[in-house]
Amino acid sequence: MPVPPQAGTRRGVPEDSALNYIPCFSMHLPTVFVVFLRRPGNRCSLCPEYPILSYLALLDCKLLKNHIQIYLIDNMTTLVVGATGATGKQLVEQLLNMGQKVKVIVRPTAKIPDTWKINDRISIIKASVSEISESGMTNYLKDCQSVASCLGHNISLKGVFGKPRKLVTDAVRLVCNAVEKNSPENPFKFVLMNTTANRNRDLPESISIGQKLVMGLIRLLIPPQSDNEKAADILRVNIGQNNKFIQWVVVRPDTLINEDIVSGYEIHASPTRSALSNPGKTSRINVGNFMSRLIVENDLWNKWKGKMPVIYNKIS
Ligand SMILES: NC(=O)c1ccc[n+]([C@@H]2O[C@H](COP(=O)([O-])OP(=O)(O)OC[C@H]3O[C@@H](n4cnc5c(N)ncnc54)[C@H](OP(=O)(O)O)[C@@H]3O)[C@@H](O)[C@H]2O)c1
Repeated sequence: MPVPPQAGTRRGVPEDSALNYIPCFSMHLPTVFVVFLRRPGNRCSLCPEYPILSYLALLDCKLLKNHIQIYLIDNMTTLVVGATGATGKQLVEQLLNMGQKVKVIVRPTAKIPDTWKINDRISIIKASVSEISESGMTNYLKDCQSVASCLGHNISLKGVFGKPRKLVTDAVRLVCNAVEKNSPENPFKFVLMNTTANRNRDLPESISIGQKLVMGLIRLLIPPQSDNEKAADILRVNIGQNNKFIQWVVVRPDTLINEDIVSGYEIHASPTRSALSNPGKTSRINVGNFMSRLIVENDLWNKWKGKMPVIYNKIS
């Protein structure tokens, strides 16, 4: 079977051709029922609360002529690294809730939520991401359409100052090389969790000389800062805006906090406050929500691809 395209990108098919109609499996109906919708970004009229993307899978629809293939997204798989972290877990849960399949790479010693062990939409790979070879990663990514990283250095002396110093950068490079090796038919989505302490050099994000000096010191003394900056630069500079195989979004939260439910949040192209002198708050569950929506909602993806959106909790 061919690889499923991004919804609505049937190559060679004129935009208003009937072939661009895509079907939606309505979960509300007892039997498989195919509803035809005009555009992939639309929502199903029977289940408007769900974006269609959640239900797309690749199959041959017997209701239509045999040679017409219908693309349903039910089969999209996202590889998540840093999945066992405080944010990674939130991201995985929300991807699953959105009907996605998830593949996680977790350290052999990591604590895995019990619910994951009995969920057949998750596959768990026990390996340290910094020890995976390029061919190993190429294999893991073969049946994936997107990747998300919530990797970060553990907040301990060993985590911050020990090896691997370039944990995130090396993982981003490894994934990019592996995706390029796989040469997917449709661009692969890469969502990287980063930080508001990293500036987007593609935009005029200026900071005062004093703040520049402090950031220089932090970069010098706290290795994870430079790791986060270099990781984002692989996507922003090396992959850039026109890569055939990889599209990316770098998500920048401010000070992370824990909350139990998704609350209101704001997304900005650049920070609206200083990460040093006036930091905002971002709950991890909101980061997970935004990252999973980027993977699932194509309109949102198209709005932010190639950018480094900043996410703050809404102040109530
Ligand atoms: N703290 C903040 O206020 C703040 C603000 C903005 C951005 N950030 C950034 O947000 C990111 C994630 O934050 P978080 O609080 O969700 O992090 P976290 O809970 O510490 O999770 C980090 C993840 O990375 C994994 N990891 C750490 N060291 C590893 C290694 N050597 N090899 C393989 N995996 C390793 C951890 O695996 P284990 O579970 O096995 O340890 C875990 O899955 C970090 O990059 C951080 O820089 C933080």
